[in-house]
Amino acid sequence: MTTMSNRANFGSRIGIVLATAGSAVGLGNVWRFPTMTGENGGAAFILIYIFCVVALGIPCMLSEFIIGRRAQTNAARAFSLLAGGTPWRFIGYFGVFTGFLIASYYSVVSGWCLQYVTASVSGQLDGDPEAVTQFFTDFSTNPWKPVLCLVIFFLISHFVVVRGVQKGIERASKLMMPLLFILLLIIAVASCLLPRASEGIRFLFSPDFSKVDSNVLLGALGQAFYSLSLGMGCLCTYASYFSRDTHLVKSATQIVSIDTLIAILAGLMIFPAVFSVGGNVGAGPSLVFITLPNVFNEAFSSVPLVGHLMALLFYLLLSVAALTSLISLHEVCTAFIHEEFHLSRARAATVVTVLCSIIGVFCSLSFYNADLSLFGMSLFDLFDFTTGQIFLPLGGFLTCLFVGWYVPRHIVVAELTNDGTLRGRFIGLFLFCVRYVCPVGILLVFLNQMGLV
Ligand code: TRP
Repeated sequence: MTTMSNRANFGSRIGIVLATAGSAVGLGNVWRFPTMTGENGGAAFILIYIFCVVALGIPCMLSEFIIGRRAQTNAARAFSLLAGGTPWRFIGYFGVFTGFLIASYYSVVSGWCLQYVTASVSGQLDGDPEAVTQFFTDFSTNPWKPVLCLVIFFLISHFVVVRGVQKGIERASKLMMPLLFILLLIIAVASCLLPRASEGIRFLFSPDFSKVDSNVLLGALGQAFYSLSLGMGCLCTYASYFSRDTHLVKSATQIVSIDTLIAILAGLMIFPAVFSVGGNVGAGPSLVFITLPNVFNEAFSSVPLVGHLMALLFYLLLSVAALTSLISLHEVCTAFIHEEFHLSRARAATVVTVLCSIIGVFCSLSFYNADLSLFGMSLFDLFDFTTGQIFLPLGGFLTCLFVGWYVPRHIVVAELTNDGTLRGRFIGLFLFCVRYVCPVGILLVFLNQMGLV
């Protein structure tokens, strides 16, 4: 098999883990996981989530790692190399396409985070609850500001990606992931010290197995899948920068642990504060952009400026989480264009930035202009729905089948054992998961999301 020589690599093990965890840790950890946990049985949900992550998340992640590190090239060509001339090769192209779409709409919300950083500094989030709601509505339906913010966000990710794998992505991740963790800890501690914080902690953790039904189970599976950035060749692209002696199983376990820990800490940051002022716990943009600014205002109102500071730290944290994810999406598309169309890395990144920004602008404007809709959904919702609910599960499903049933076993063994230098204790279990457990699990999640099961 042909592999590319002189290809960029991550420089250190910690760099690998932080960069890949940076892709996984994103808005999904902050605005979906905590609410799902609180509403679906607290600690019982966390246990189920951890089970899903181990049974489905780790095997799917390893499948992408195996393909990427084996082929040492972008996601599209990686699948093609291993698939020969068979139709399996299209999975990689499909992944890059999905990455392109996600990057375009993810940047819209990322831009909002950036806008909220400045708004929390300038005191625009200080007013009463109506004023904060109005601020969000005015802002998200304003044609210019969100567009400007998303373009700025893309440009930041552009400059990181252009600098390359080690000097750009790895260095940025080594800086931003510890920063994210520290911000999270500061806000979580401040939040847990508030009066009545224990109600929020109870909401998050008290185990209630009576709430667990098949919907909760499938919800946890879907969340695990989304949160780990599976199903679109992102991890495959990053794995192509791993070195031959990277321990794939160990790295996957560490990445998954970081992602889960950060999701749980996000719950500890949000709910004690929300409960201390008796707020509403719904998930999604309204939680982050409407409820929380009010919560910070009220909860910390006794000490001047602390509410401000907490809001600022929180939106900084969200921006960092979103940025590391956007960088990974940008890299998937850039690596593809750079290697397939033989453009320099800088030119390839420019193509991605320009194209994604243009589509992102349309997604952003779809909040402002109702005509920008297709199939009865705004462009933003359409992209969110098709990628999250259809393309990612489909990509993950096919990736597992590909590795489980098509890729020769000796390749799987060689990758998981680093050419026989490690003991391959879990290979039988891994193959069982990717052949049966993951495809069936993903299929059920998909049917559940479509309302068919
Ligand atoms: N994991 C990201 C989050 O939790 C979202 C996401 C899904 C993603 N697929 C991705 C990010 C691919 C980067 C690349 O928010």
